[in-house]
Amino acid sequence: MANKDDQFKKVISHAKEYGYIFPSSEIYDGLSAVYDYAQNGAELKKNIREYWWKAMVQLHDNIVGIDASIFMHPTTWKASGHVDAFNDPMIDNKDSKKRYRADVLVEDYVAKIEAKIDKEVAKAKKRFGDDFDKEQFVSTHPRVVKYTEQANAILKRLGQSLEKEDLADVKALIEELGIADPDTGSKNWTDVKQFNLMFGTKLGASADTAMDLYLRPETAQGIFVNFLNVQKTGRMKIPFGIAQTGKAFRNEIVARQFIFRMREFEQMEMQYFIKPGSQKEWYDYWKEARLKWHLSLGMGKDNYRFHDHEKLAHYADAAADIEFKFPFGFKELEGIHSRTDFDLSQHEEFSNKKLQYFDPEENKSYVPYVLETSIGLDRMFLAVFSNSLQEEELENGTTRTVLKLPAVLAPTKVAILPLVKKAGLPEIAKKIYEDLKWDFNITYDEKDAVGRRYRRQDAAGTPFCVTVDHDTLEDNTVTLRHRDTMEQKRVKIEELRDLVDQEVNIKHWLKKVQ
Ligand code: GAP
Repeated sequence: MANKDDQFKKVISHAKEYGYIFPSSEIYDGLSAVYDYAQNGAELKKNIREYWWKAMVQLHDNIVGIDASIFMHPTTWKASGHVDAFNDPMIDNKDSKKRYRADVLVEDYVAKIEAKIDKEVAKAKKRFGDDFDKEQFVSTHPRVVKYTEQANAILKRLGQSLEKEDLADVKALIEELGIADPDTGSKNWTDVKQFNLMFGTKLGASADTAMDLYLRPETAQGIFVNFLNVQKTGRMKIPFGIAQTGKAFRNEIVARQFIFRMREFEQMEMQYFIKPGSQKEWYDYWKEARLKWHLSLGMGKDNYRFHDHEKLAHYADAAADIEFKFPFGFKELEGIHSRTDFDLSQHEEFSNKKLQYFDPEENKSYVPYVLETSIGLDRMFLAVFSNSLQEEELENGTTRTVLKLPAVLAPTKVAILPLVKKAGLPEIAKKIYEDLKWDFNITYDEKDAVGRRYRRQDAAGTPFCVTVDHDTLEDNTVTLRHRDTMEQKRVKIEELRDLVDQEVNIKHWLKKVQ
């Protein structure tokens, strides 16, 4: 695939063509940055959610899951700090009238410097082959060292300015770097201002009595306000976790890059309640555990990296992102945050209710500290989908488009294909379909030549095709074709269930996480 933009465009069009993601309300020309998950997308999303839920809840006897409401008492958001501090710095371009996140403009500038470093590394790797030592190269090559210092200095200054809320310096930085409107090239900027990201709404029928509410901007607060209910009814002992998946809403200044940044999205969050003072130990533990979960999907170790935060959110004493290499570069996929006792203490203060845990080992009560893991489901979807979409040159000189989704996540596990639509083959194929549908999500396809049907299933991401042919009539065997290798094996019909199960069963995949 040619360049990053082309590759990303291909991801978006493939997602539509193969029934993964549609623009929302498309018959009315769509709604900016809002998308619907289509028939295959809904399955892939559900499978990712299940992969997360099982790893977190089912495999940890001290983590339980809840499903809190999107609407919460409005004081929740005063206590959490979102009313006062859930802002993004925005800047408008006076000529184009377009609005941007000021910090993102600077980060995109830095990403361009990082791309230059990557280019130098790739060139050197090619030149030196097996002898190439990347660490040595990046720490000694003069141009790369200069780029790295430049990128670090810019990020440091941005972090410090945001920390001090020095928005004038953020603007000065944009101007010093000569950053232009990415769409028009204009450098005619307004001042940088803060913009609150919460969506407001009203509860109640009459205008006089209606209560002002917010759509939750994160699922985490539903966990904090239920902390004591869960601890008591579940007889939970510290350390313990509460997990949740659900929708969150943010009025993002710029929602772009497809499903990477949306105004309505889904989070998968887990708050781990711990003894004060043990946060460093659990921070390191969950960083490693979450990376392991990602790596278990086999999407390539080099596609992940940690980014430790310089600028910490108002609630955190340490924070890191797991970044993934999206088609547009490394970006945040998941956050691991050490939130101290900020949230529970705030809710104690605002609600006037004690939110403490009696620790029998210490023989005293305290407000627990919290270690949070927070991942965007839609972002994870984009990571999986974009990484899986590949164009392969075949030995015969042709190319194929293949969606190499991890088999455990693929919406459809098997396609059952009669070689031809006659001679009793469809009847056998339909019988196999009826037998296997109890175990796997499968499909039946008898239209077009079998080669075209294979290509269709490759592009849709189906890991296996089962072909019923004339030999099946003689010996009860079928061809089992593997999507990634295109290898075809003759197997007995009664072996099919086990062979497929070995590759798609969530149990086999999750064992790599433990
Ligand atoms: N409770 C902590 C919290 O919400 P966050 O870093 O703001 O932390 C966590 O969000 C994750 O949610 C991010 O790493 C990202 O994957 C996802 N996320 C955040 N904003 C998003 C958006 N506008 N669209 C899609 N995903 C988003």
